Amino acid sequence: MPVIAVQNLSKKYQIYRQPWDKLREITGLGKMLHTEFWALRELSFTVDAGQTVGIIGQNGSGKSTLLQILAGIMRQTRGDCHVSGKVSALLELGSGFNPEFTGRENVIMNGAILGFDSRQMNERLDAIARFAEIGDFLDHPVKTYSSGMFMRLAFAVAVNVDPDILLVDEALAVGDLVFQHRCMHRMNMLRDSGKTILLVTHDLAAVTKFCSRALLLDHGQLLEDSAPDVVVQKYRALMFERERRYGQLEGAGRDGDLAVLDAGGSGVPVVRSIPNIDHRFGNGQAAVLGVELLDESEQATREVFGGQRVVIRISVEFARDVDRPIVGYTMRDRLGVDVSACNTSYAGRVLPPARKGQIYTSDFRVLMPRMAAGSYSISPAVACGDVLRHDMCDWIDNALVFALRSDDLIYGMLKMDVSVVNYAAGP
Ligand SMILES: Nc1ncnc2c1ncn2[C@@H]1O[C@H](COP(=O)(O)OP(=O)(O)OP(=O)(O)O)[C@@H](O)[C@H]1O
Ligand SMILES: [Mg+2]
Repeated sequence: MPVIAVQNLSKKYQIYRQPWDKLREITGLGKMLHTEFWALRELSFTVDAGQTVGIIGQNGSGKSTLLQILAGIMRQTRGDCHVSGKVSALLELGSGFNPEFTGRENVIMNGAILGFDSRQMNERLDAIARFAEIGDFLDHPVKTYSSGMFMRLAFAVAVNVDPDILLVDEALAVGDLVFQHRCMHRMNMLRDSGKTILLVTHDLAAVTKFCSRALLLDHGQLLEDSAPDVVVQKYRALMFERERRYGQLEGAGRDGDLAVLDAGGSGVPVVRSIPNIDHRFGNGQAAVLGVELLDESEQATREVFGGQRVVIRISVEFARDVDRPIVGYTMRDRLGVDVSACNTSYAGRVLPPARKGQIYTSDFRVLMPRMAAGSYSISPAVACGDVLRHDMCDWIDNALVFALRSDDLIYGMLKMDVSVVNYAAGP
């Protein structure tokens, strides 16, 4: 029995270049000053009670628009949308909190919208406050909250009002790690108690782990509606394609070939694609031909877990004879901080002299440390010389970006191998 039924749902936004254009148009002083934009196009799907549905898609694909329509705070332009049951929504821009009122007052008002009187909401306040854990700020105006605090309170309300259907838009990303885990735990409980949950997120691991089904939106259309791993695969393929096109635009991508392994004449694997070029420099005596990140089964990946074995494969081509070539990379975190680096000389695998036209490929086999989850980049390079003194032939900043996931809660930058011994003295 579907609790959500969507039929040919479409949403058109009207975009005005200047705010007063709308007024001029309404008052007849100007004709058609807006452009039209279809954010959702003919979506049809149903959701049964108890399903957990992940909704993924690139920025601007229509995910938030869809959730706002399901939550009833925006109307579709065409099509039908039926939702039955009590809906609790945690949307992108804070669930109807009034910035001038305190958190406590907002909780009561929010409850009223959901049909709870103030006594019923007061009974829930303790649980909400404990969950949100924002301390005295509960009695401060919401406008003084950080975005994380704001979201903590909104989430605490959303999951403590016994919803039949919970709509969550990307909220988890704002909280700190402890809070993210707390949210996930609560969502698991809601799921296990048979609630219907729709979760919009860019966290693909969360979709495969948490959801029973996923939808892929692309430019307002429903591209895929299937099992989470199938949908995530499709989305990855889409992202690869976008990355590749971006690389080509920036003058990379060489032959535009996404194929990772190209067993050349000699049977040597060669990678020929550079997903991204932010900045490149060097004397041109050799060039990075491609860089790829491979998982245990030698498949290209952009998602890695701490503790996983991966290969960073770099191919370089020599424009002239180079006596002492070095191939290597630097890994950075999302803030651009160097996390680690390695090259053939440093690793004690000195490359033989290269001739003009030759292609070398180096595999760096890495045991990925249990670092804080997030996005990391790899900047490949080829140089000539030795570890201490070398000339850079080609260096590419942030050529490949990947997501590091973690099953553990990691405090700080990384989880170290620690063993603990306890002693006791005295009586
Ligand atoms: N109020 C609005 N007026 C005009 N266009 C809008 C409005 N809100 C959204 N859009 C456009 O509609 C499209 C879909 O937006 P939406 O916010 O639903 O995307 P999204 O999938 O949630 O993206 P993100 O991953 O960035 O959150 C975008 O192109 C956006 O620019
Ligand atoms: Mg959105």
